[in-house]
Amino acid sequence: QEIEWTLEMAEKAGYPHFMLKEIHEQPKAIRDAIHGNRGIISKVAEEIAGYDRVIFVAMGTSYHAALVGKYLFQRLAKRIPIVEEASEFRYEFEDLVDDGTLVIAITQSGETADTLAAMKLAKRKGAKVLAIVNVVGSMATRIADLTLYTHAGPEIGVAATKTYTTQLTVLTMLAIELARKLGTVDPEYLGELERGLELVPDLVEDVLTHEESLRELAEELKDKRDFFYIGRGAGFPTALEGALKLKEISYIHAEGLSAGELKHGPLALLEDGVPVVAINPSGKVFDKMVSNIEEARARGAMIISLSDREELSRVSDVLIKMPEVDELLSSIVYVVPLQILAYHLAVLRGNDPDKPRNLAKSVTVE
Ligand code: AGP
Repeated sequence: QEIEWTLEMAEKAGYPHFMLKEIHEQPKAIRDAIHGNRGIISKVAEEIAGYDRVIFVAMGTSYHAALVGKYLFQRLAKRIPIVEEASEFRYEFEDLVDDGTLVIAITQSGETADTLAAMKLAKRKGAKVLAIVNVVGSMATRIADLTLYTHAGPEIGVAATKTYTTQLTVLTMLAIELARKLGTVDPEYLGELERGLELVPDLVEDVLTHEESLRELAEELKDKRDFFYIGRGAGFPTALEGALKLKEISYIHAEGLSAGELKHGPLALLEDGVPVVAINPSGKVFDKMVSNIEEARARGAMIISLSDREELSRVSDVLIKMPEVDELLSSIVYVVPLQILAYHLAVLRGNDPDKPRNLAKSVTVE
């Protein structure tokens, strides 16, 4: 039997959508990000080590990467960065930036209007600008003093997937190297983290083998109206990103929250059967997360936990079993099932995940 191949089918390499193909490309993309930056990361860390005022600027998924960057800089380099949406930074930070400031702009496309405007403002004020970018030669790379590439390759789906996990990879490498230069963390632990990062692509591969059970879960969830994603520490940006993926391609209302925030308002929205997705890798906030899960469960929420710890099944309706990983590396691995879940929910609801309504791949207008 002859199959007629269109160019688009060939580009999707047998996957029904670019997004799914790009989700599956993540192990390779992360490896490429590691290899592509190994030779340069030390030099970049050297150039930025002197700045103790650090501001991350970005939008959307790249903004969530910036929040992970903040977490890593705090934990490893003992720096306390500010994270601002570029659209806010450009109007509010005019008097707050000078030549003692380091601005780290994160942008997949390198063409997001707000992020470019924030970078230009930073440059005008004399700040040092480092860009973390995917698209080679894009405008952001021309404005920046320094650029680190994510090496994710082209991403066609509007939803950012492999470009996010590679941004996190680069940020992890940078935070490790900075900590090494500043002497802020035991070098032995930094070596362990580096070796752990090398193994992350294998862990992501492992998660990808569970796609079918995530599709079945999506079947069960496809008629739900609202979703809540909760996390702490490294899990907080993952909660925001999981919720964004769901909103943008499945059109289901979703909120990402720091788990501690739950009882300050959002708890009032929980009722029987509302899905609460709890991101809970082993680590210093594990037990605190369990109390937050119990709070939500007591209101009848349907608890979907992501964890490496089997014991969470006691307080969960569904446990998405995750591989063991250092909590500092966990945001790279834990976002993957959330991408897959959002993808299948979008498809089951009849949406084209590659081309969500009202959205463009790069937002070049303000
Ligand atoms: C996420 O899935 C979106 N595509 C969107 O939030 C995106 O991350 C944002 O528009 C920023 O784009 P950039 O990384 O190209 O600057």
